[in-house]
Amino acid sequence: MIPFNRASFDGKELSYLATAVEGGHTAGNGPFTKQAERMLSAMHGGAATLLTTSCTHALELSARLLDLQPGDEVIVPAYTFVTTASAYAWNGARPVFADIRPDTMNIDVDDARGLVTERTKAICIVHYAGIGAEPDAFAQLADDHGIALIEDNAHGLGARYGGQTLGSFGAMSTLSFHETKNITCGEGGALVINDPALLERAEILREKGTDRSRFLRGQVDKYTWVDLGSSWVLSDLLAGVLVGQLERFAEIQAARMRIWERYADELRGWAAANDVRLPAITPSAEHPAHMFFLVLPDDTARDRYIQHMQRHGVMSVFHYQDLATSAMAERLGSVRECPNAQAAAGRLVRLPLFASLSTDEQSQVIEATLGFAR
Ligand SMILES: Cc1ncc(COP(=O)(O)O)c(C=O)c1O
Repeated sequence: MIPFNRASFDGKELSYLATAVEGGHTAGNGPFTKQAERMLSAMHGGAATLLTTSCTHALELSARLLDLQPGDEVIVPAYTFVTTASAYAWNGARPVFADIRPDTMNIDVDDARGLVTERTKAICIVHYAGIGAEPDAFAQLADDHGIALIEDNAHGLGARYGGQTLGSFGAMSTLSFHETKNITCGEGGALVINDPALLERAEILREKGTDRSRFLRGQVDKYTWVDLGSSWVLSDLLAGVLVGQLERFAEIQAARMRIWERYADELRGWAAANDVRLPAITPSAEHPAHMFFLVLPDDTARDRYIQHMQRHGVMSVFHYQDLATSAMAERLGSVRECPNAQAAAGRLVRLPLFASLSTDEQSQVIEATLGFAR
């Protein structure tokens, strides 16, 4: 069976892991953490970057930095991973769900604009598949209303919009290094901080609410409990693996891009003939080849496609459910009809896409797809 994803640690990842073990600094904030943070910061125009244990935890950290109060609202897309919404709900805000655009699967700026009220504290956008979710328009919207913009950039490390790096538009942005991402250390994440005023408190919250980072820099002679934080520091073992992956960034991206382009070229005719939509790359977006998805004409066709691919030895997988009609949305009083999110939940499917997918394996995926008629 051709898997949906297969992470490859073919560079120095394992030797760096051994180096961390031998060097004796296996907890967080060690030499590999610093190195990974420097590399990520350089990719974001020098913005401070804090490694975290996951993108979910980076989102939770961003939520704590917003100082949410009961009654506050945070606008998020209805079609996203659960924790884009739960991070803010967990910290006391009511998530307000905006629908997505049917072409890019990204949060719809006009729908979001209509949801802003005096209770709105922030908007968290998701760059689905790393295709920029009109971050310039959202930055303007956030500015117009004096609210914070956060970018959940779990999919889009290194991608650009209008020539500007994704993750550099909002006050903060988050990254994921989960095994399904282009660059991975198994589980991991980062918070990129574009608003320098947030940095000192972010460091404190990530260190269990203590000023330990200041202590480690010699700025205070003991560290103590100063705020409500949690344990969001990534182990240096995993940071070592991450540095090994980041060193191979260009090579991994190039391999993924070749695979992405081949899917696009060889499936275009079949898609048009079968009323299937391929990812829409808007003119301002430079995407990171994170995901190749198909949108089938209806739910039945999507489910039949997944079964057909399975019979042909290929694992293809659907993605998010619509959060705006979830049981938790009901408990939070956040239920809303988002027809495009509902359609995406029922019709979208993702194809195997990873740097070590061989030409023959990809041919098998393509041939199996060409053999499917709705
Ligand atoms: C858009 C989005 N945000 C956040 C996450 C959570 O990432 P993590 O698994 O690193 O917590 C994911 C997971 O895939 C995601 O797709």
